[in-house]
Amino acid sequence: MVNDFKSKGKVIWLTGLSGSGKTTLANGLQEILGEKKISTKSLDGDVIRTGLSKDLGFLEKDRDENIRRVAEVSKLFSDLGIITINSFISPTKKMRDQVRSIVGDCFVEVYVNTPLNICELRDVKGLYAKARKGEIKNFTGIDSVYEVPLNPDIEIATEGKTVQESIEELAECIITILNKS
Ligand code: ADX
Repeated sequence: MVNDFKSKGKVIWLTGLSGSGKTTLANGLQEILGEKKISTKSLDGDVIRTGLSKDLGFLEKDRDENIRRVAEVSKLFSDLGIITINSFISPTKKMRDQVRSIVGDCFVEVYVNTPLNICELRDVKGLYAKARKGEIKNFTGIDSVYEVPLNPDIEIATEGKTVQESIEELAECIITILNKS
């Protein structure tokens, strides 16, 4: 699959708590777009933090730098007409505004809205339990801030929906945006 080199890339940026479903939605979106012969590159916190950002932790200044690096990389992709789907907690408005200022008008902010109690109940990676016991410090939603996006381009409220329903809702919104650009 090759994207039209001249077409404008997009930076689809999923923000939300750890365990909110960002990566799952990104994978589902990637599959649906792939079926339409639209290729994408998916970037995610857990992967980037073992490579590009492996020197960074979870203090606010480290998160700022993590997000800045990913934004710069995404900008390079978007200049080539490539769509990236990025799953990062990106907890503050300042971080997300920084992404917007780096990547420009190809930025699509998606808020994956899953309440903390649900993320904590799922606790897929067992990290919330550790954070509650104090074994992990500065954990988002526990002892580190998550600022809810007030005006995202897309908001997917996952509570009470199946994974497939949330993926389809996101894909529909993204396809509408891609068709307009
Ligand atoms: S961000 O804040 O800089 O955007 P990022 O999305 O890259 O975070 O990484 C989040 C992932 O790192 C989480 O899904 C979780 O698996 C892991 N993690 C480890 N420690 C923390 C922490 N203190 N706060 C949040 N996530 C953490």
